[in-house]
Amino acid sequence: MTVTIVGSQLGDEGKGALVDLWGGDADVVARYQGGDNAGHTVVEDGTEYKLSLVPSGAVRGKIGVLGNGCVVNPRTLFSEIDTLRERGLDPDVRVARRAHVIMPYHRRLDGIEEEAKADSDMTVGTTGRGIGPTYEDKVGRRGIRVGDLLDPEVLRQRLEYVVPQKRAVIENVYDLEAGEECDVEALFEEFVEVGERLRAENMTVRCGDFLAERHDDGENLMFEGAQGTLIDIDHGSYPYVTSSNPTAGGASTGTGVGPTVVGRGEVVGIVKAYLSRVGEGPMPTELKDDDREEELADVIREKGGEFGTVTGRPRRIGWLDMPMLRHAARVSGFTGIAVNHLDVLAGLDEVKVGHSYQLDGEELLTMPATTERWAECEPTLREFEPWPEVDWADVAAEGYEAIPENGRAYLDYLTEEMGVPVYAVGVGPDRAETVELVNPFENDG
Ligand code: IMP
Repeated sequence: MTVTIVGSQLGDEGKGALVDLWGGDADVVARYQGGDNAGHTVVEDGTEYKLSLVPSGAVRGKIGVLGNGCVVNPRTLFSEIDTLRERGLDPDVRVARRAHVIMPYHRRLDGIEEEAKADSDMTVGTTGRGIGPTYEDKVGRRGIRVGDLLDPEVLRQRLEYVVPQKRAVIENVYDLEAGEECDVEALFEEFVEVGERLRAENMTVRCGDFLAERHDDGENLMFEGAQGTLIDIDHGSYPYVTSSNPTAGGASTGTGVGPTVVGRGEVVGIVKAYLSRVGEGPMPTELKDDDREEELADVIREKGGEFGTVTGRPRRIGWLDMPMLRHAARVSGFTGIAVNHLDVLAGLDEVKVGHSYQLDGEELLTMPATTERWAECEPTLREFEPWPEVDWADVAAEGYEAIPENGRAYLDYLTEEMGVPVYAVGVGPDRAETVELVNPFENDG
């Protein structure tokens, strides 16, 4: 069967911990979109692994696949694999030949475009990894794919076509000097070597066939979404989005496994018990209106470690946003949710949730389609009885009933509003600190 893991909010919901927990029952863990803009922290026996490209399942000795919907920076890929090997792991990572390659000029252009946008107040606050420019080239049919790296002749042909265009954009549009990132010979040399290593380590696959064969053999597949619903290129708060589809539909287009297969499986939305956002864009429930709210945001930020895994930037903090979660549940068709960081809200004097929005005198239970209208929404807050600080390691050991009653009432509310059961509750950063109610791999109808 398949289990798809999707971020319900703005990324950073703690998906890695659940992928790692349930990944134990998967034979293959496949990422279906994004690239090294993702930041997965996996804690295993107190050792922390920060990964941005390699699927977190690799920490548990699973086959990790980067699907055709991913964009792959080979420098990051090899550096993460080498680091894991140095730490005694032996990650088995396969890369779709149809996946697109993030080239050095994509990263350069990401930075240049963000700076240009700043002049018009249009900054997205990207991770600077070249994600957007790579997807642009994919859609513009001038991208370089992993499979092209295996054939020097094709690689040269592609580079000779595209690199002069990038140089022209940098020099003539932005009036800057192009550097090594636009040197065809240097690129050819580096990326032929990448192709040789990929081949030598037998890393490239026809992703759809590879996964379908395993599925046909009765193996369990996990699709690991990166980022989150609200930064989905179609369903997110455009233009403050990433350039791929983190929502569940992406699991199909981004791997070559049919939507009926994905849809027959479980789709689990990962929800953080509050909200955080890296980068620009509206956030109606943001805690920033006065000193008291800012202090509260600081407490949550520190306690929850809300600093970007990839960029180190402090994350903006807000109350849970229910219209956002209803939207996420519908777009991806969640069959269950996992709620993370319930412990972070413990011991606060107040706990609130944005239950609905007020817009033009009307109550909205879900989100407007345009970001400008979303920015005009005023949240109608609902207050919850706070729950106390407890020994969360004990709670993790004892199970759901050990969660303080008010915390459970908060979870019941989420279940009711999103219309799906809670499968797991994260009460601390370690994998052992997750209360599991349902293992989706064992929920096979
Ligand atoms: P990009 O994906 O680097 O192009 O960035 C586009 C937007 O998505 C920016 O607002 C980033 O902060 C955000 N973003 C990208 N990846 C992540 C992630 O893994 N977690 C949270 N936000 C992300």
